[in-house]
Amino acid sequence: DKVYLNGSIVNSGDAKISVFDRGFIFGDGLYEVMVQINGRFFYEKEHLARLQSGLQKINIEFCVSSLKNEIIGLLKAAALSDKDCLLYIQITRGVAPRQHSFPAHIKPTVMMYAVPKVLPEINTINAHVITRNDFRWSRCDIKMTSLLGNVMLNEEAMQYECFETILHRNGVFTEASHSNLFFVKNGVVYTHPADEYILNGITRIVVIELCHSLGIEIKEIPLATEEINTIDEAFLTGTSTQIAAIQKIDNHLLFKGNEKGPVTQRLQEAFLKLK
Ligand code: PDD
Repeated sequence: DKVYLNGSIVNSGDAKISVFDRGFIFGDGLYEVMVQINGRFFYEKEHLARLQSGLQKINIEFCVSSLKNEIIGLLKAAALSDKDCLLYIQITRGVAPRQHSFPAHIKPTVMMYAVPKVLPEINTINAHVITRNDFRWSRCDIKMTSLLGNVMLNEEAMQYECFETILHRNGVFTEASHSNLFFVKNGVVYTHPADEYILNGITRIVVIELCHSLGIEIKEIPLATEEINTIDEAFLTGTSTQIAAIQKIDNHLLFKGNEKGPVTQRLQEAFLKLK
């Protein structure tokens, strides 16, 4: 398995990063995940633009457009050029003596790898989820590698044999540990606005656009936790999750067996046509 590291493509076992890399010491870095489907990256431009904007937010000087050719080279070396696969990109601030503040003009560490990944046409998961207090920090718009909060919250879902943990903060639902969260109530789709409490998922943006083009009313207004028993449907979105229907929230069963809501189903079918 091949890894791209700072301009070279090497075997993963030969990819070496300093223990003083601020990504290792502080989690001082960003990542991005995108999938290649039918020979092209799904919304590549938007993923790379989010990465660039994140780098600007945390003052890492790096131009992601230089990665386009490197990605092509990596896929070639990994024999994945025309295969369905998942690409992981990580850019950390770089290597420096351990000190919270960072030196000017430090050279970022850039790492990428690709693995084969075939996504289902339509996600058939009918997800069971648990609800938890969103105890992460208040800059969830930054797709940083420091994912301990997300890891701890997701791990709890695994303990309950659930697919995801959906999160609430200040009395409203925000997102999930590794996906965005949508509700449907009286035919209207609701999702938390793209502020500093959620990651503005690319799939989230695509689903909002789909609602507009299908004439489904969409409101970027968060759902209050006490409204949870009044919803008709709920679903999750994310790069590998695509659109996943939620079947059960804690002990509240929304759908039985293979049933799912009509709005979720309509969006899943429309999403499929974009690939
Ligand atoms: N997860 N919210 C969080 C906290 C996420 O980690 C992700 C993505 C999303 C959905 O974003 P997008 O639609 O752009 O994938 C929302 C990635 C894939 C991960 O950590 O593996």
